[in-house]
Formats: sequence, C-alpha cells, structure tokens
Amino acid sequence: MLASFKSIGAYTPSRALTNKDFEKIVDTSDEWIKQRTGIENRYIAADDQSTSDLAYEAAKVAIERSGLEHSEIDAIICATITPDFFCMPSTACVIADKLGISHVTAFDISAACSGFVYALNIAKAFVESGIKKNVLIIGAEKLSSIVDYQERTTCILFGDGAGAAIIGTTDKKEESILDVHTSADGSFQDFLITPGGGSTNPCSQKVLDERLQFMKMKGNETFKVAVNTLTKDVKNILEKNNMTSEDIDFFIPHQANFRIIDAVGKKLNFPTEKIVLTVAKYGNTSAASIPMAINDWYESGKLKTGNLMLLDTFGGGLTWGSALAHFNQK
Ligand code: UT7
Repeated sequence: MLASFKSIGAYTPSRALTNKDFEKIVDTSDEWIKQRTGIENRYIAADDQSTSDLAYEAAKVAIERSGLEHSEIDAIICATITPDFFCMPSTACVIADKLGISHVTAFDISAACSGFVYALNIAKAFVESGIKKNVLIIGAEKLSSIVDYQERTTCILFGDGAGAAIIGTTDKKEESILDVHTSADGSFQDFLITPGGGSTNPCSQKVLDERLQFMKMKGNETFKVAVNTLTKDVKNILEKNNMTSEDIDFFIPHQANFRIIDAVGKKLNFPTEKIVLTVAKYGNTSAASIPMAINDWYESGKLKTGNLMLLDTFGGGLTWGSALAHFNQK
C-alpha cells in the first residue's frame, strides 16, 4: 500500500497586519521589509483564538474535501511551535476534541518550520506500514504569541495561520507520495530559539524581565545556511528519484523570505511559474507555511489533481526536509 496526499485545507485569521502598520510599532519601513523579505502583509489571530482554533478550521476543510467521515480518521498529528498549552495536553488532542474525534492516535511534533514535512514523513510511514489508514496532518501556528513586537528584526517576519491535509492510501504510484526526506543539525540550535519557559530557563520573573519567552533569531547566519541546505536537499531528493526540475509541476518551498526562495529557485533552474509564492501575503507562518501555500495554489485553480509537488523546508533546530508528492485530491 502506498501513501497519498488526499486533500488540503487552510485557515487564515481575519486581522491583517501590513508593513505600514509596523512603521507605527517599530523603527522600520514598508520599503525595507519588501526589499529584504518580499513580505507585504501577514494575518494575526484574535486574542481569544488559540492555535487549535486555527487548526480546527483548516482541518474541517481538509476532511470535507477528502470525502471522509470524521470517524474514518485514525491519527492526528499537529506540527507546531506554538502549542495551546505548555506542554500538555497536546494541541492534537485539543483539535481531536474540537472535531469530535476520539480514541485515535493524536500527538504534536516540534520541528519548527519543517514540522509539516516531518508530519508528512510520519504519516507516510504510518500508512505504508499498514498501522493507519487516514492520517490528518496539520501545521498550525499562533506565532504572534511568541513574537517580540519590540524587536524589529524578527517581528516583521511572522504571521499566524494553519494548513491541514489528509494522508490516505492508494495502490497507484502516480497518485502517491513518492519520497520524503527529513533531517536536522542540532549544532545550530541557537540560530532560532525561544530561550525561556522550558526546563533550561523555567518561567520566572527573570525570564519575563529579559523577554526570554520570545523567539530570537540569528537572521543573517540562518539565511546563509538556509540557501545552501535547501539547494542541497532538493538536489538530493531529485537525484535519488531520477528526476530533474522539469519533472516537477510545482516547487513549494517554505515561505520565509522571497530572497531565499529566489536564490534556491535559480540554483535549481525552476522557472518562476513553477515556484509557489505566498510570502508576500502571509509572511512566515512556520509549520503552516507549506500547507497554506499548497491550499492557495489549489484554490486559485493552478494546482490540479495528479500534479507532482516538490516541497522544501527549513527551520529552527536547525531542521529541514523535502518531499515529492502527487496532489491527489479528487
Ligand atoms: O523560518 C525559519 C527560517 N528563517 C529564515 O530563513 C530567516 C532568514 N533570515 C532572513 O530572512 C534575513 O536575514 C532577515 C530578513 C531576518 C534580515 O535581512 P538581512 O538582509 O539579513 O538584514 P541584516 O540582519 O543584515 O540587517 C541589515 C540592516 C541592519 O542595520 P545596519 O547594522 O546595517 O545598520 C539592521 O539593523 O537592517 C537593519 N534592520 C532593519 N531595518 C529596518 C533589521 N531589521 C530591520 C527592520 N527594518 N525591520
């Protein structure tokens, strides 16, 4: 039995935060943000919306489009770095409850921006081993809850949102997820880090005073590793599957920075029309960025059943991953 990408869904909160809005919050400009990142807008969850609320909305769409009953889903995996609670119950358990799905495997994974591709890898293994039949995978983030809105180098980058997919079964190779590759290098752990609140620096007045509960990033260093790693990773997965960029219908990279996507796309000879770009609209939504991008391309009518997607991601850990998957929503 092969694993198949059966459906996609996404949810975007309604509150927009434009570059012009940031000009009033920190010392920055619309021009700087656009030039250095390609970002023009991002969406921010309401105060009373948790990550599971965003995930629930995306999951509902993905389940409906799959044609499955809720009772047919036998596992829920949520990739997030902004869980509803630190550190239990898992956000996946909360989502399961909201969806009215009980007595199924449900857990979160923490692989930052690479979380959705990591979840895809696990779902593929579950399905192909026969352990599960229909796995709901979700990338969901309320990054606004860990963004420091006094720190101009990071706050302009991130937005909130969620994307979800159903990974089911097929016996046809042309409908399947061909390959998923995930990897990590913990020696770069301080490039993207939320230092406070965990067992190293448990929540305390000192953590709050030093603003350690917020995300910190070595942007420049991360940028360089991202371009090199993503390029190498895509070359590897294409070579391993005897393919070139010409075999791919859509290259769907993690939406962190237009300049990273552009550099990787050029090195790999992807024509611009094959590169999926949503960073201008949503900013960086971490684990939600790839499924939100897939959903955008589907809803705009560009992504069709049978198309071969090449996913490519990179994030905190450092983690990275790529996947070759046919889009098989019927
Ligand atoms: O999703 C996880 C993976 N994340 C990434 O891949 C992010 C990778 N990094 C990046 O995307 C970029 O490094 C940033 C967008 C974060 C920064 O762009 P950069 O071109 O690397 O800028 P920089 O950090 O080298 O800063 C250049 C200048 C600095 O001023 P000086 O020292 O040259 O006077 C910064 O202080 O830009 C300044 N700066 C800003 N100016 C206006 C930094 N942030 C801002 C800002 N507005 N928001």
